[in-house]
Amino acid sequence: MEAQSSQPTASLQYADPQVDELLKHSIRTQLESLLKAKLTTGQRQLLLQKSFVDAMTLVLSNTQVEHLQLVCAFEAMYDQAVQSMALAQLSQEQLTRQYVSASGLIMSPYNCKHTIKDVYRIQGYARGVDQAIQSKLKHSPSITILYPACGPFAPLLLPLLSYYKDTEKYTKEQIQVILLDVHPGAILALKQLVKDLQLDDYILRIEQSDATTYQPNESIDLLVLEAMQHGFTKEGQLSIAKHLVQFLKIDGWMIPQNVSVRGMMVIGENEFNQQWKDAEYSHSLNMDASAQQDRVELGEILSINKSTLLNMQELELQGGVKVIPASQITLPKGIEDMSKRILAIYAHIDTFAKEGVGQYDSGITHPKPDMTFYIDTKPRDIEHTHFVANSGDTVQFYYQLSGLPGFVPVKV
Ligand SMILES: C[S@@+](CC[C@H](N)C(=O)[O-])C[C@H]1O[C@@H](n2cnc3c(N)ncnc32)[C@H](O)[C@@H]1O
Repeated sequence: MEAQSSQPTASLQYADPQVDELLKHSIRTQLESLLKAKLTTGQRQLLLQKSFVDAMTLVLSNTQVEHLQLVCAFEAMYDQAVQSMALAQLSQEQLTRQYVSASGLIMSPYNCKHTIKDVYRIQGYARGVDQAIQSKLKHSPSITILYPACGPFAPLLLPLLSYYKDTEKYTKEQIQVILLDVHPGAILALKQLVKDLQLDDYILRIEQSDATTYQPNESIDLLVLEAMQHGFTKEGQLSIAKHLVQFLKIDGWMIPQNVSVRGMMVIGENEFNQQWKDAEYSHSLNMDASAQQDRVELGEILSINKSTLLNMQELELQGGVKVIPASQITLPKGIEDMSKRILAIYAHIDTFAKEGVGQYDSGITHPKPDMTFYIDTKPRDIEHTHFVANSGDTVQFYYQLSGLPGFVPVKV
């Protein structure tokens, strides 16, 4: 039921920044579409397909490509994909609805659309997936790939499939893909994009379903998954992987093959500010050596791969919340400025073979400061609920599988 307002004109007097942005975006999209409407459907599809193939040609190249060249190619891919999304004519609700499910955040297609510009995440995945497909097809005439939580553009696979089709590297007989997402808006956008890219032949199905309960009929050769945010929080990567790993063939692979989540104690100013002062862009290659030396690494908190997923034991707490026991870490002694340090949790992703996504290469591997973890000091607020421990203490980390997934430290 809609809330009644005693001042019906109040909402007209101030622009809600979020709605305002959306309005601007939709007006701009409409204007752009008008301009581009001069193109025939065939011409627009060709531009879209070319942008996808061009981005993958750079990403798969074995010679070094300039950062700016990659950024431009990915921007072109984004511009074309957004045009396709505009043609899918999502309602406001389908475009902007974002909510928290039992296993994590379900991002709206409006917010998800940017992930196709995340250059080094897509590079790490695409190069890994390409090598995994090559290895699989050496021993098998055809493979089935499942890509859950793929979002409106399925950017870890659709660009690659466009490249395969264009270069005739692999045929539709060799690769069949199941695209899966729970959001109705993402599904509509996805169908339009697959049609525009003329990739229908490579797509076995596009399914609207929750990936934490979905049961595919076929056994899967490759499970391609990226549904995580920095600090391994918010989205349901672990719940999705843990459920779907059982549908992999015995020799099937998960991509990423391993996600290593690690903790460190840092001086926030050095790690997040000074380190990036002169850097052209955020990337593991541009990290600063002295900031690295300043860190106190705590080690690995959780490792997510096919074997750890198959052996993971869930604990169910009162109230039905489920947790996974992660590592026990003993906090180092003798660090003079420990009380001034904050915990930061970051991920290193090994997609396949030597390919991966390192810390700071993407938002998803960016270290996330945890301001609720106090060592050798106490929060000022007496009624706090923060974690407090001392150097030398042993900490058991748990991973909470709820609508707000994330780590919970407990003193042993
Ligand atoms: C940030 S995007 C995923 C990113 C995408 N893999 C990529 O590479 O760009 C989030 C998408 O995952 C979907 N999603 C999140 N949790 C899901 C779940 N449990 N089942 C199915 N889809 C899910 C959301 O609906 C949304 O479209």
